[in-house]
Amino acid sequence: MPGDKSISHRAIILASIATGTSHVKGLLEGDDVLATIAAMRAMGASIDKQDEQGDAVWRIKGVGPMGLTAPTAPLDFGNAGTGVRLVMGLVAGAGIDARFIGDASLSARPMGRVLDPLRQMGAQADALMADDGAQRLPVHIKAASLMPANITPNVASAQVKSAILLAALGTMGTTSVREKIATRGHTETMLELFGAAISTQQQDGYHVVALNNQTGPGALRALDLDVPGDPSSAAFPMVAALSVPGSDVVLENIMLNRQRDGLIRVLRQMGADIEMLNPRQASGESCADLRVKYSKLKAIEVGADIAPDMIDEYPALAIAAAAAEGTTHMTGLAELRVKESDRLAAIEAGLKANGVAVEAGADWLKVTGGPIKGGGLVATHHDHRIAMAFLCLGLSAEAPVSIDDSTMIATSFPTFFALMADLGADIDG
Ligand code: S3P
Repeated sequence: MPGDKSISHRAIILASIATGTSHVKGLLEGDDVLATIAAMRAMGASIDKQDEQGDAVWRIKGVGPMGLTAPTAPLDFGNAGTGVRLVMGLVAGAGIDARFIGDASLSARPMGRVLDPLRQMGAQADALMADDGAQRLPVHIKAASLMPANITPNVASAQVKSAILLAALGTMGTTSVREKIATRGHTETMLELFGAAISTQQQDGYHVVALNNQTGPGALRALDLDVPGDPSSAAFPMVAALSVPGSDVVLENIMLNRQRDGLIRVLRQMGADIEMLNPRQASGESCADLRVKYSKLKAIEVGADIAPDMIDEYPALAIAAAAAEGTTHMTGLAELRVKESDRLAAIEAGLKANGVAVEAGADWLKVTGGPIKGGGLVATHHDHRIAMAFLCLGLSAEAPVSIDDSTMIATSFPTFFALMADLGADIDG
């Protein structure tokens, strides 16, 4: 499986500001991560790829604390929400001037969730104001000095938390982020590996992450990292194996972080036969090989409390639900409306086009399983996970399922077609 996208972005960003040379194996070479690499190079990091006995090793020579230089052209993040939001935080804390742009999908996504907390720390940022009051790309962050702050974001988002922590690297003092529901903690785990003084604790019902920068801008030490496989990419062959009779597939080296394994927990409750083999650690994260066998799934209620632990996996879960017996009801999905596309609308339209009974509300989805007619054309809205999910639906449908575009699958899973073909999928492009 390809390397985890969240870990890959963070490895490039933190190695680029560390002192010394880091080596990263297993990096996801998807378009999103390549955009982050280009941005970090444009601000002074030296990043190249080497071949070590057939394995790609990315070598990153960091600029050291406060060593980033202002880019001469706008930083183009393409489709990458994680890249653009994390780097906005980093740039604000570094006290340099930079402009941020992206593709049509990224330019329609909300940026105020990151810019508002950064302004609370003293950042000066201009954004395009949409008619509905949302702040969007292009964004211009101007050179300013930031102060530490204690922030309670009003949305459960690891990207927001991470942007604040990365901005805090450029301040003197302690910055804390309080989350009602803990989101993926990859930034804090990796900051700690790079030598930052990070603490996490439960306090008054909040999950609190604090960066203690008592002696000035955080100095990170270069590190060698091995990126584990991406559970959000594994979701697609996993759901395909569960819904195609006779399947028995091992997905190797998948990260199993508690804030990322919600789909596996839900599928198991639905009756999925998923076995964890060879549990181990890589770069501070747990991982294992997953053996997945075809299973007759039964619908369940999927509550809002698990949503942050599987926020990217609802397109895949909807496909599993279409093959399950009964009606799967998923709640707490408001965030799906502001992902690479409005995923609730895209799932609803795609399932309807293929004869699956589905209903959606502002923040919920109901999918009733049964024989899947297929034969529909799905509008992907430039969203990689919508594209991959509906190709997987085609595997268990009576007639082939088509998607209107597949180019953006390369943002997160460049080897998707080859891997699915190896498993026996008949997909033509
Ligand atoms: C990510 C966080 C999530 C997720 C995204 C990756 C990250 O977004 O959807 O694909 O790497 O921090 P939010 O922070 O908006 O929930």
